[in-house]
Amino acid sequence: MTGLDQTRDKVAGLSAGASDFVTKPFDRAELLARVASALRTKDAVDQLEDVQGVLVALAAAIEAKDPLTKDHCARLAGHALDLARLAGVDAATVPSVGYGAFLHDIGKIGISEAILRKPGPLDDREWAEMRRHPAIGARIVEPLRAGTLIAPIVRGHHERWDGTGYPDGLASETIPIGARIVSIVDAYDAMTHDRPYRAGLAVSVAQAELLRVKGSQFDPHLVDLFLDHLAELADERIAMPMDLARGLRLVG
Ligand SMILES: [Fe+2]
Repeated sequence: MTGLDQTRDKVAGLSAGASDFVTKPFDRAELLARVASALRTKDAVDQLEDVQGVLVALAAAIEAKDPLTKDHCARLAGHALDLARLAGVDAATVPSVGYGAFLHDIGKIGISEAILRKPGPLDDREWAEMRRHPAIGARIVEPLRAGTLIAPIVRGHHERWDGTGYPDGLASETIPIGARIVSIVDAYDAMTHDRPYRAGLAVSVAQAELLRVKGSQFDPHLVDLFLDHLAELADERIAMPMDLARGLRLVG
């Protein structure tokens, strides 16, 4: 509460972390209404934080059960958020794509460890069980506040652009865009990191593989966006040492 009433004072106050800005002389009813509104906002933020805590705990549970997914979820969420923004997913929905990526394999909680940890190839019966994990995962995340957005992503992350994926055999744009995004970044991350039966592939090999299967396994437009994005990230990494060198020359 303040006697200052210029716009720049209000902007400075709000930028410094104030929830609201009340100028003197204040109206008692308005002040009470504004405090009540600030408390409602605080409640909403607290609830969101609770949900995020549950999400992180669930993801940690997957990683504990399936060591192959160690740190995989966090990396995926980062790539998925980038690709969602590049693909023009509306800003309010972008975070759900990140959560969908983080939780895409949560249904593996319902799959036996003998299958998850089996070093050799799975037989038909084991594959049938493994393929249940997207549907199990969707049921787990449905009760979350953003469940209506996240569940279709979790359920659809093994669908394929040509309609030969599972569990629903959806094709092309009938597959939710979040699921199409997660399937691409999931495949890329799996290829570029070590598995018990093989070392991680070189980035260039993984990118060539995405190009090979775009249009059959993956949404071709999204693959192009993702590969352009990876190239930009690589350029940034190369540019950084040059900036550093320039800085050192300036100092010297
Ligand atoms: Fe999966």
